[in-house]
Amino acid sequence: MTTDRPAHYGGDPVREGVLGYGGQSITDAEREAVVEALDGDYITRGPTVERFEERVADLVGVAHAVAATSGTTALHLCGRAAGFGAGDEVITTPLTFASTAHVASYTGATPVFTDVEPETKTLDPDAVRERITKDTVGLVPMHYAGHPADIEALLDVADDHDLTVIWDACHAIGGTYRGDPIGAQRDMVVFSFHPVKNITTAEGGMVVTDDDHLAERLRSLRSFEMDYAPAGHENEPWYQVTEGLGYNYNVTDLQAALGLAQLDRLDEFKGRRDDILAHYREAFADVSGIEMPVVHDDTDPMFHLCAVEIHAEAFGCDRQEFVNAMHDENIGVQVHYVPLHHHPYFQDEFGYSEDEFPVTNEVYCRLVSLPLFPEMTDEDVGDVVRAVRRLHAYHS
Ligand SMILES: Cc1ncc(COP(=O)(O)O)c(C=O)c1O
Repeated sequence: MTTDRPAHYGGDPVREGVLGYGGQSITDAEREAVVEALDGDYITRGPTVERFEERVADLVGVAHAVAATSGTTALHLCGRAAGFGAGDEVITTPLTFASTAHVASYTGATPVFTDVEPETKTLDPDAVRERITKDTVGLVPMHYAGHPADIEALLDVADDHDLTVIWDACHAIGGTYRGDPIGAQRDMVVFSFHPVKNITTAEGGMVVTDDDHLAERLRSLRSFEMDYAPAGHENEPWYQVTEGLGYNYNVTDLQAALGLAQLDRLDEFKGRRDDILAHYREAFADVSGIEMPVVHDDTDPMFHLCAVEIHAEAFGCDRQEFVNAMHDENIGVQVHYVPLHHHPYFQDEFGYSEDEFPVTNEVYCRLVSLPLFPEMTDEDVGDVVRAVRRLHAYHS
């Protein structure tokens, strides 16, 4: 028995205030940029949005970037631009946030879940091949926690079956795969700028693509699918007509100004995330039963999450006890994710049940995301380490 008793078993918590698992970093540069945009001629979608789009397109090395109001709406635009619809099947991962699968469900297509690789927790290309049918039209892999999926193997499957690929890179802006930025891959790649993500615009998302036709569709769908200058009406400048079922997913210049200021700090953010992860790796090297995220040789991920696996027997307690014990220490760990085939919506609409996808289910039982965000102080990192180590020691 240790004298450093965990709070869960009657000791004092390692800290008083709650430490969340993620969060934004805002400095005077961001504040000034937003205020400046507020004084501009446009406070809805204007020239700052265009500059933000150009910066992101340049960053990943593609021709087009289309900003949207969130990662979710950006994914929706992709499903529509790809032309998915009723009767179509779109293969995706169950170990993700619901919006990944909604690329299919929003368009009337069916999300076909396929198991993941245990190391990276991303779509298993062999399992994907087995799920292809004559109705399969698309693939939506997700770069879990920021680590790239097996991009080459998944693109091979897509090539063999003529599939449109929409990469959910909501976790992954700032990383690379085989030297190429995440975002450079065909057909479309989606980022999220929610405050817990690698950069933020409060709410916001973006699609990047090299495909001119897709970019045009994305822009039109984002803004009401309106023809603002139809042929034959040149002398009627007011004549604007709706061509299809579009949306208002326009972002504001205020958000874009925030996004530009955050992009200036992308390297700083990556550096801090890398440092914190390196610190955890070192601090937990001698702690049995806690498995740190893998990094494949051909990748340089910008980790959005530090998703570790707790192996109950070796660590001394299971994931549930770990999470509750950490919460009692005021460390706000989280689990990413309750697999989508466990959710009532996907069960009721598409007939999934909890006992499918054994790799996902096994990994899910062990997953916990430790706090990881640039604003964490060394003291915060130390609190997480101490909380984990004292829990492990208590059970040893
Ligand atoms: C993997 C993944 N995809 C999509 C989304 C949706 O992004 P947003 O919150 O910007 O709509 C999220 C956000 O939580 C996510 O984690």
